[in-house]
Amino acid sequence: MTKRRITLAVLSVLAMSAPAVAQTSAPATTVAQNDEAKIEALIKQMTLEEKVTMIHASSSFTSGGVKRLGIPELMTSDGPHGVRPEHGRDWTLDKDVNDSCTYLPTGVALASTWNPKLGYAFGSVLGSEANARGKDVILGPGINIMRTPLNGRNFEYQSEDPYLISQMVVGYIKGVQDQGVSACVKHFIANNQETNRNTVDINMSERALREIYLPGFKAAVTVGKVNTLMGSYNLFRGQYCTENDYLINKILKGEWKFDGLVMSDWGAVHVASEALLNGCDLEMGTDLKMLPNPDYNKFYMADSALLLVKNGKVPESIIDEKVRRILRIMYRTHMFDQRQPGSYATKEHAATALKIAEESIVLLKNEKNLLPLSASVKNVAVIGMNANRKNSMGGGSSQVKALYEITPLAGLRTLMGDKVNFTYSQGYKIERKADADDQLIAEAVAAAKKSDVAIVFGGWTHGYSDYSKWSDNAFDAEGFDKKDMKMPFGQDKLIQEVLKANPNTIVVLIGGGPIDMTKWIGQTKAVVQAWYGGMEGGTAIAEMLYGKINPSGKLPVTFPKVLEDVPAHKLGDYGNNLHEEYKDGIYVGYRYYDTYKVQPQFAFGHGLSYTTFSYSNLTVTKNSDNTVSVNVTVKNTGSKEGGDVAQVYVHQDKCSVDRPEKELKGFEKVFLKAGESKVVKLTLNKDAFQYFDEKKNDWTLEPGKFTILVGNASDNIKVKGSAVL
Ligand code: BGC
Repeated sequence: MTKRRITLAVLSVLAMSAPAVAQTSAPATTVAQNDEAKIEALIKQMTLEEKVTMIHASSSFTSGGVKRLGIPELMTSDGPHGVRPEHGRDWTLDKDVNDSCTYLPTGVALASTWNPKLGYAFGSVLGSEANARGKDVILGPGINIMRTPLNGRNFEYQSEDPYLISQMVVGYIKGVQDQGVSACVKHFIANNQETNRNTVDINMSERALREIYLPGFKAAVTVGKVNTLMGSYNLFRGQYCTENDYLINKILKGEWKFDGLVMSDWGAVHVASEALLNGCDLEMGTDLKMLPNPDYNKFYMADSALLLVKNGKVPESIIDEKVRRILRIMYRTHMFDQRQPGSYATKEHAATALKIAEESIVLLKNEKNLLPLSASVKNVAVIGMNANRKNSMGGGSSQVKALYEITPLAGLRTLMGDKVNFTYSQGYKIERKADADDQLIAEAVAAAKKSDVAIVFGGWTHGYSDYSKWSDNAFDAEGFDKKDMKMPFGQDKLIQEVLKANPNTIVVLIGGGPIDMTKWIGQTKAVVQAWYGGMEGGTAIAEMLYGKINPSGKLPVTFPKVLEDVPAHKLGDYGNNLHEEYKDGIYVGYRYYDTYKVQPQFAFGHGLSYTTFSYSNLTVTKNSDNTVSVNVTVKNTGSKEGGDVAQVYVHQDKCSVDRPEKELKGFEKVFLKAGESKVVKLTLNKDAFQYFDEKKNDWTLEPGKFTILVGNASDNIKVKGSAVL
């Protein structure tokens, strides 16, 4: 599992034609310049055929190399939260290989920590394991905006809020890339649903594009310095995203000066000339119908590309530029010299997975302090198939063969040992057409009646039991959106009946996003959102339920009451077959619920703790450089150590265009001992106050008064100040 390297023969050719290899102590810019010279020297030696070999796939996950010059194939691998199981050069899963790795919590769980340092830690684990498995590019992070709760891939993504995404994504990318492996931010852009993902043409206002859908990608490129980016399947304003002149040539490579590599999603190229001319550098995954032996020369950016160049329809310089970008990221990731060996499925990596899972869990509701459970509670009914189910291999391309996976039930039993008697009953079946099963409900009710406390583990699932049938995966799963937001498999009835049997019932929800709780939320004292917590997810849940850790996760996405309240469905055009108009514009998530006064079930940024926090002494100071300093004292006023997220929202009091009621523009997670306080200091620059002016086609800061709102949830603002700009 060692990395392929350019051969010495090539290095000696390079030595003749290009400046000597830079010393490691040389400044970064010098190294980069030397690399550029070496890249040009290599391109000069290549035939057109060799160049074209490099710009399309040579197997399921590799791009073509040039043996004669010692240029290796680029080895890519999914995916956002673990190194995907090994595939052969076709798509069959390899047997007898050690590909059981660290299964990290999924993207939405990471974002739910609101802790950018954990983004870096997450990326470091991935990068290190990618190295150990000989991968050059990890196909993550996925950062599409959570526009609808139905999106089958929300679990892989991060948030509805562009600022939160921007903060989390940078750490992730740097974490991966500091290990000498490329990250690949995806899917550029507007792959915000799986329904019709290959055919739907998305249109949205320029303002929505700039304010909501682009900032995460912009941060990935300009701050995170991501090496590679993946175009999405869908069309944008009439042109496929992977072949989209406006998105790739004008914005990504023009405005943002992205100098890395743009690859297609697997099978996202449709027209050779458009892909070549409009910025796609590498075509992957085309023509999977011909598996297991596709003819890679039949890819659009293969023989057709050759012909287009030979017929003078596409200049060779366009091909050179793609090769240059591919070589550039090979140099950046040290594919030409010795690199870190990486480490694999270690205890340290599992500890990072646990830490992220612990900080991701969101305590949504906790009346009468039902949680944390006391160890003196002897009999606990654990109900629901999600208590005893492994998730790592589900969901589609982000599947991970986990070294191990602790389920919630196993986590509880390990943590509490003989001290507590846990009785498990399945409660519902994860099966197609499964409805409430009276027998399973009766068993659960009987167990709940006999117990001091009942915990129902429900929510979403990646899919039905047979993971190999992708078309059967229809909940948190690639390729499909959920049909509605209602609890599947008769869980509403199960929870209602269990609540009647035992009022001390806690509901723990697994899943990638919101679910309709309206049938039982009023009767339930405690509700926990636990996402997909990775290989140590069950440990983290048990620790949280028993107060060994204090929950500090905050919702990175609004939990609406019912689907009908969601702007993409109410105002937008969700699900329209060939063309979808994002009429919801900039009003995505809390921007909508706040401004249009629609009360959600749980607001963006919400998350309770076993302790309490106060916010005071807010000062808002305008600095001479037009930045604004926001200082606020956060104090742990309860009796337990805990973490909270100070969230800073900006509201413009008067403006000539509509603006959302408030927008997140700063946050910091703080951990405080009981009684301890800390002054959180944040600086808002002009980006925090601007909107995208469609008339000027540029960002604008309209002078006036801005209210600064600070709290620990978007619906729990504790202190306010203002600044006149
Ligand atoms: C997914 C990508 C993934 C690729 C390779 C596609 O179906 O959309 O996210 O990286 O497959 O597995």
